[in-house]
Amino acid sequence: MSESTGPRPALDLEAFPPSFAWGTATSAYQIEGAVAEDGRAPSIWDTFSRVPGAIDNGDHGDTACDHYHRWPEDIALMKELGTDTYRLSVAWPRVVPGGDGPVNKAGLDFYDRLVDGLLDAGITPSVTLYHWDLPQALQDRGGWTVRETAEHLAAYTTAVAERLGDRVTRWATLNEPLCSGWIGHLEGRMAPGLTDLTAAVRASYHLLLGHGLATRALRAAVPGARIGLVTNHSTVASASDRPEDLAAAVRMDGHTNRWWLDPVHGRGFPADMRELYGVDLPERPGDLDVIAAPLDWHGLNYYFPVTVADDPEGPVPYAREVRVPDVPRSGMDWQIDAGGLEALLLRLTEDYGVRELYVTENGSAFPDTVGPDGAVHDPERTGYLEEHLAACARAVRKGVPLAGYYAWSLLDNFEWAYGYDKRFGLVHVDYATQRRTVKTSGRRYADIIRAHREATAG
Ligand code: IFM
Repeated sequence: MSESTGPRPALDLEAFPPSFAWGTATSAYQIEGAVAEDGRAPSIWDTFSRVPGAIDNGDHGDTACDHYHRWPEDIALMKELGTDTYRLSVAWPRVVPGGDGPVNKAGLDFYDRLVDGLLDAGITPSVTLYHWDLPQALQDRGGWTVRETAEHLAAYTTAVAERLGDRVTRWATLNEPLCSGWIGHLEGRMAPGLTDLTAAVRASYHLLLGHGLATRALRAAVPGARIGLVTNHSTVASASDRPEDLAAAVRMDGHTNRWWLDPVHGRGFPADMRELYGVDLPERPGDLDVIAAPLDWHGLNYYFPVTVADDPEGPVPYAREVRVPDVPRSGMDWQIDAGGLEALLLRLTEDYGVRELYVTENGSAFPDTVGPDGAVHDPERTGYLEEHLAACARAVRKGVPLAGYYAWSLLDNFEWAYGYDKRFGLVHVDYATQRRTVKTSGRRYADIIRAHREATAG
């Protein structure tokens, strides 16, 4: 790194164990491009991004960061940052283009090369099997609203695990099932774009069932695999002390947090939320045990807290988000509050008994530009990173078994319904030229990683 910001004393890096894994994260559809190459079939995001008005500026993932071709350059960037690990996702429609049935060898070959490239660079791959890019062929047969999709996820998992399992140890089944379930099927802002409570509840159930079945498939195919689930959460505050608002906060907590965590941690689906949704779950005997299959770690994605008020006329869960005035916000207009990360890490440890945790995503979007000096100066992102790492350090000091942190994201990329305008990368991407430029936040991250290594070197 030519420009160094130098380690700042406020960061308690010695809180993190010497083995702490420093990483960056991305996902397939957001960076790969090459949507019609080597036998890949369309996913629900290829379809959704063609719906007029669904994505800002009519953007789509056809080319994205062209990572499918530029992955060696991107691994070189990871090396430049000094990261230990990289969280990637495998595109189901590359590997099993029809969703079920024949495996596409050329699709697996890509991940084979990528994994080898990472290992050659001394970077540990952490592979997520499903980061929202369901094969469209399965959506045409009901998608996550039908049980078969969960079963197909397990079969696809086996194909990936049999090919990569000799080199990949760290596996995640799903990324953020809340977004697939609630945002994709209830709010309609993500693929497949439905606004149907029954579909959403059924999808949420089948996503978690799929997680459990995929966990089983991984255990069978990869002895010694370290398997986890990645979920996103927010702390939930009540807008006032009014009993109605306090109850709304409990409902929002159920919708955002407990609905996803309770079943996975053996508590079943929360009764208050089942009653609120009023939708019969497509349960079969034994499903809850599958969903609660023992895991080796849990991945927390954290971005922002929420504050809510009662909203009896509004959509489920009848809790309206209230805009808190005079607080820092990112370019997504999300409130910045690192305390929320600390609180959620503590909750997962103390309330859910998680024994190994990763922050699998955390980061911020700001409207970065390449300056006349050719550099991208992003002090707000650097501040966000430092504050959230400080929160992680406080959590570790309080006993949280945090094993690693993955910054979202390595690269600016396709930010779903927001298209390419929202930039989360530690590395800037000029989409016209595909030129990558490490931002000052990326340099700061590299300095932090180096400083931690020095501080904990035995
Ligand atoms: O870009 C997304 C990612 O795909 C999932 N977690 C949140 C990120 C930022 O919105």
